[in-house]
Amino acid sequence: MTSKIKNNFWEDAKQVERFAAREPDNRLQKLVKQYDNPQQIRVLDLGCAGGRNTVFLCKLGFDVWAVDASHSMIKETKSRLKRILPTEALRERIIHGVMSDLSWAADDFFDLLLALGIYHNAHSEGEFRTTLRETARVTTTGGLALVANFAPGFAPEFQELKKIENSKFVYEHSANGNMCLLTADELDAEMEAVGFYPLEKSETVHHESETGRRVTVNALYKKR
Ligand SMILES: C[S@@+](CC[C@H](N)C(=O)[O-])C[C@H]1O[C@@H](n2cnc3c(N)ncnc32)[C@H](O)[C@@H]1O
Repeated sequence: MTSKIKNNFWEDAKQVERFAAREPDNRLQKLVKQYDNPQQIRVLDLGCAGGRNTVFLCKLGFDVWAVDASHSMIKETKSRLKRILPTEALRERIIHGVMSDLSWAADDFFDLLLALGIYHNAHSEGEFRTTLRETARVTTTGGLALVANFAPGFAPEFQELKKIENSKFVYEHSANGNMCLLTADELDAEMEAVGFYPLEKSETVHHESETGRRVTVNALYKKR
């Protein structure tokens, strides 16, 4: 499976190290407590990066599948899982591929979808919507989707991104290619269009650091 990523930002060793060093997602750590039989829960970690959530879930016994378009991120995730999963499972489940093409997975395959910091990497409305449709297709009825997506106001290096003319939510980002920044209402509407409804009110969180200003929509959806 080939990558359509337009630059090598995500292949950079520093980014791999930075993402691999992170603790598992806070909301995920709370969510897993509701599953009594992790072995029976199939999870898709979409854009797994350095594997922080994949490794966390595998250690708890969840049946985890992960995909990322960066060879370096996939290599790092596999290397961290070497002592946890057999080689055959690593080859089958830790996949180098793009989020918009999940043709390797059957319909209704996953009980839990993690889309943390990934959907906004779509470069166009077409890629964004195809990805949402694909993730909805592979998520089973009653399955959950834990989502974090950048929103308007996201300003890397404190530079606000400019919305592309005539586009609903695509913004120019010279370093990473275009990005899809959606408000909570817009994200809910796009998710609703593919069959997910919010289980709780989607929240917009603002955070500033030396690398800029992040505005993120945190959401949890259930598949109809
Ligand atoms: C912000 S990181 C994701 C963080 C990760 N989900 C976590 O919680 O640690 C974005 C990841 O998405 C991957 N990525 C970017 N565009 C992608 C695409 N079109 N398909 C699949 N993965 C992509 C990058 O390689 C990178 O590892």
